[in-house]
Amino acid sequence: MKSPIFAANWKMNHSPADATAFIRTFLANFGKRQDRSVIFFPPALSFGAVVSALKDRPDIQLGVQNIHWEDKGAFTGENSAPIARGAGAKYVLVGHSERRHVFGETEVETGKKVAAAVRAGLTPVVCVGETLAQREAGETVSVVLGQLRAALGTLSGADAANAVIAYEPVWAIGTGRNATPADASAVHHAIRAELHAFLPSGSLAVPILYGGSVNRGNAADLLAAPEVDGLLVGGASLDAEGWSSIVLT
Ligand code: PGA
Repeated sequence: MKSPIFAANWKMNHSPADATAFIRTFLANFGKRQDRSVIFFPPALSFGAVVSALKDRPDIQLGVQNIHWEDKGAFTGENSAPIARGAGAKYVLVGHSERRHVFGETEVETGKKVAAAVRAGLTPVVCVGETLAQREAGETVSVVLGQLRAALGTLSGADAANAVIAYEPVWAIGTGRNATPADASAVHHAIRAELHAFLPSGSLAVPILYGGSVNRGNAADLLAAPEVDGLLVGGASLDAEGWSSIVLT
């Protein structure tokens, strides 16, 4: 039986006070259990509030939404992997479509961020996904696998085997239009096959999450799809009651 991962990407939402109230409600709904992993990705300035709110729940993990690829230095406004680790993060999102398409992050930068995460002992959650134009041009698998290779290419096989992958089609993010379970499954299979090709022994351990307009209505069907090991959720993770019901799917 799969033990699915439920990851909440709050993006630029929830002040420290809102985050604290959210976690209080969520914990009232979600007791400790072995059969689900929950990870929160709060905005950087609300991270400490979530650490405090979760102090009695080490079963729930935390991640940051972004890091710089350097460990420290004169990079005003940025946060590094060692700083994130020191603040209590275990995970970091790398290559999210908003980083790539809104902030112009390149595949080279994504690869450097993944390497920085691993150096600091963070697990990178590597986000990959095609745009609508790429999908319509039949390029989905080549785009996704290209992003995957660029992100993991600098790692040893052992380090790559500790990563998490999130397939998030750009056209599905925040649009209300999710990939069908069959479409998600097909891309996840391609990702799994590629992982087998360059890290045969560890490839089965790498979880592959789906993200893009997941909600309480479609979460169960997406999770039941072959090769879908969990969900990365944006908009539908912002409401504590709604998020609780997705996690308890
Ligand atoms: P969404 O976002 O659930 O709002 O589509 C997902 C994501 O960007 O990680």
